[in-house]
Amino acid sequence: METPAQALKDEILRLKKEKGALIMAHYYQREEIQEIADFIGDSLALAQQAAKTDAPVIVMCGVHFMGETAKILCPDKTVLIPDAEAGCSLADSCDPEEFAAFVAAHPGHTVVSYVNTSAAVKAHTDIVVTSGNARRIVESLPAGEKIIFGPDRNLGGYISSVTGRDMLLWDGACHVHDRFSLEKVLEMKKEHPGAKVLVHPECRRPLQLVADKVGSTAALLEFARTDPAEEYIVVTESGILFEMQKGCPGKRFLPAPAEDAGCRCNECEFMKLNTLAKLRDCLRDGMPEVRVDPETAAKALRPIERMLELS
Ligand code: 13P
Ligand code: SF4
Repeated sequence: METPAQALKDEILRLKKEKGALIMAHYYQREEIQEIADFIGDSLALAQQAAKTDAPVIVMCGVHFMGETAKILCPDKTVLIPDAEAGCSLADSCDPEEFAAFVAAHPGHTVVSYVNTSAAVKAHTDIVVTSGNARRIVESLPAGEKIIFGPDRNLGGYISSVTGRDMLLWDGACHVHDRFSLEKVLEMKKEHPGAKVLVHPECRRPLQLVADKVGSTAALLEFARTDPAEEYIVVTESGILFEMQKGCPGKRFLPAPAEDAGCRCNECEFMKLNTLAKLRDCLRDGMPEVRVDPETAAKALRPIERMLELS
């Protein structure tokens, strides 16, 4: 007999076909959402896929700024998100009006913004970047060009350190990545001396310094797939472990901080707001729909397109 979970999945697949929808998911989504998605990726891959899909309906299983990016790239398509409350603390750490004032106070700078921003912040931006292409894009700017980088101070500091470029940093951070602790990772390393440390660049500098690999979710996955080690301490949102384990069944991935620390603080509660039931509901009801004010979208489109051209 069909289980309720299977019946829900079947209903999603039926609705998806009926509506001609493409289901996209970020690596931090719940396992069951990653399993049913047509496409899983990091922020860059999700934007690239949105830009080229023919599907009339995109369901973005991720957070709101990912839905906005898809909508800006595909204004004629319907972009749905299972839970409209799925925001991002990093995007929220950059108020558009304050950012516009910061930019205005520093004329002559090229404004580079992380994709984890609202459309309104992107509208005040020259080039958008993701953690997967930030280094390449900053390196492509002429030497001596003055750069503002927002909103993530940890990613900005990392890009500045690897490119040697001086950048004016906005003082924002992600509440998940900013609270990983070096101490806990070093304790884990003592227990697992052979384990390599994989760190997302939204984490603080001390963690970047002890990492064997610093990279976007896609870059960390690729490293794990191709590296010979058997054990890894993963310092990013724990949803990524599903794809890591799938890609490398013989390896061990240890989420930081250790689960036995009794803390689920390596989970992004915004990402986890999306559930299979909400995915079914949004496909069935055609809502919540992601909308971007057309004037803001028109201004935000160019910096996103520049990113895609340079990726
Ligand atoms: P990636 O682009 O590396 O997938 O990161 C997205 C994100 O929200 C990290 O917190
Ligand atoms: Fe935003 Fe952090 Fe969640 Fe990523 S993990 S979506 S940066 S709050």
